[in-house]
Parts: sequence; structure tokens; C-alpha cells
Amino acid sequence: MSEEKFFFEENVFSRKDYEFTFEADEELIEEILKNKKSGKVLDLGCGEAGTSLSLAKKGFEVTCIDISKTAIKNIKIEAKKRDVKLIAFVVDLEKFEFKEDYDIIIGTGIFHFIPEKDSFKLINNIMKHTKKDGLNILEVFLQGDPSQEEDSEGYYFKQNELKELYSDWNILDYEEYEDYDEEEEQTNKIAYLIAKK
Ligand SMILES: C[S@@+](CC[C@H](N)C(=O)[O-])C[C@H]1O[C@@H](n2cnc3c(N)ncnc32)[C@H](O)[C@@H]1O
Repeated sequence: MSEEKFFFEENVFSRKDYEFTFEADEELIEEILKNKKSGKVLDLGCGEAGTSLSLAKKGFEVTCIDISKTAIKNIKIEAKKRDVKLIAFVVDLEKFEFKEDYDIIIGTGIFHFIPEKDSFKLINNIMKHTKKDGLNILEVFLQGDPSQEEDSEGYYFKQNELKELYSDWNILDYEEYEDYDEEEEQTNKIAYLIAKK
């Protein structure tokens, strides 16, 4: 069986009938702009990178990384179309080495693909490699999410666990909520955090 981390590459992004929409999260962009007008952004497991493409258009220096070669190829094509400068490359987050510090680090919908030990190592690195007054934007699945199986390879957070990891930071937003996924016909259990260092 293929590893779960290749799920999006194999079952979504590389499908012939799949169309990339590069949809941006406008609410998140608004929140980011309240805090930062420029700077370096790192989008981990970026997927279609809609928000990051918009931030790049606004002048942020964006780096997008993902294990999906199809996603990275399409992001580069879209960036060119929009006349936007952005770095995008394929890498496995379990092996990613941070070489610099960032003003904003985004990691949404990725930790349930990353084993517990690597998830905590990644969060430590995210925190360490965020500049002073920089932002972390993380969205994780909680334990009991319907996608979680006994042999799931990735990490599902306990209630309040993410918030507690950031207890030394200024938490701008933290929510735990349920969200109905029409395609999967299931209700996901999600935690969402925006924190300032
Ligand atoms: C649910 S999607 C989320 C995409 C995007 N962050 C968002 O919020 O829309 C998960 C993404 O994580 C990527 N991914 C999963 N495991 C990964 C890994 N080990 N290293 C890098 N990317 C990974 C997938 O290829 C996919 O693009």
C-alpha cells in the first residue's frame, strides 16, 4: 500500500479530471495583513497554495513546499501566469531542514499525514524558525476525527494540545470546531490557531 503522505498526489492532484482552483482564504489574508504588510512566508504542505499565491502578489517573499510534485508544478505555472515571484519545491516534511527564519509560517491540514514524533519535531522547528513578532498559522485534526483509523500514520491532536504548545506566545485566535465535508460526507474535528511570537 502507498504511504498516506502521497494520498493527495496520487488520488487528488494527479487525477486527469482534477482542476486546481488556487482558492485563497480571504479571511486569513485579512488577518495576516492586520499584523504584517511584508516579509518571508513559508507554506508547509501547501497543496494548491491559493493563500500563498495571493500573499506573493501582495509582495510577500513566499516559499511553498509539498510532497506532491503535481501541486508544485502547477503552483509554479500559476505563479508565472500571475507574474508573481515565489519559490516552490518538492520535499517530505518529515525530512525538511529549516535553513532560515520566517515572518509567517503556515501549516494547515498536514499533521494528520505526519507521525507523532515528526509532528512535534516539525512544530518545534516552526516555532524556533519564526522571527520575533512573526505569525504561525496552524490547522490540525483532533482525535476522534472520522478520518482517524487505528493504523493511521499521522498525528491527531488532543483537545487544547495545540493551544498549550503556544502558551508562551500571544494567541490571536484559537478555535476548536466541527466542519462538515460535503465530498467525504463526514464531519471533521478541527483546531485552528493563529499565534504571534
Ligand atoms: C489536506 S492537504 C492541505 C493543503 C493546504 N495546506 C491547505 O490547507 O489547503 C495536505 C497537503 O499536505 C501534503 N503532504 C502530506 N504529507 C506531506 C509530507 N510528508 N511532506 C510534504 N507535504 C505533505 C499533501 O501533498 C497535500 O498537499
